[in-house]
Amino acid sequence: MIIIAYLCGSLSGAMIICHVMKLHDPSLHGSHNPGATNVLRINGRLPAVIVLIFDMLKGAIPVYIAYRLGISPFFLGIIGISACLGHIFPCFFHFRGGKGVATALGMMAPIGLDFTGCFLLTWFLALIITGYSSVAAIVGFLFAPLFVWFFKPELTLPVTMLSCLIIIRHSSNIMRLFKGEEPKSYARHNKK
Ligand code: G3P
Repeated sequence: MIIIAYLCGSLSGAMIICHVMKLHDPSLHGSHNPGATNVLRINGRLPAVIVLIFDMLKGAIPVYIAYRLGISPFFLGIIGISACLGHIFPCFFHFRGGKGVATALGMMAPIGLDFTGCFLLTWFLALIITGYSSVAAIVGFLFAPLFVWFFKPELTLPVTMLSCLIIIRHSSNIMRLFKGEEPKSYARHNKK
């Protein structure tokens, strides 16, 4: 299941959807990040929503199958991390992937809707207040271990590892935020 999850995660939603729909390549435009936020910037809402759902499902499906097979919550977390690692370092796309936010959200949902709901609420509030998708993700994953510890303590370690991975993955966003160069999530980039 760990290998299957990694392979599912390696299917980059942004690269596949934009290629199929003949849209701008997210690895060449905007923030160059193959994720839903960058697809929203350079290609608009519809492809971004499709990419978001695609990237969530590739985290949710392996974890849900593992859950139905009776695998323990700790190993469900490890399988979810594996899907996120596939998204971040995809073997089908030269190991250059996204930041893992949608896939992490997808992998959390089958394990616990309670802490997933708390995460989503935190993410949404941070997005509304700041307008930055990256800040929303960073704040959401700073709080995620706390929510998990409260609702499903056995998942605290894998979710903390996942949060660290995703926050470190946002280091370029953090640098841009400090320099005042981070684009708002809804601001469209120059496509050149
Ligand atoms: O989920 C990724 C988002 O937090 C940041 O994406 O394109 O602004 O680097 P981007």
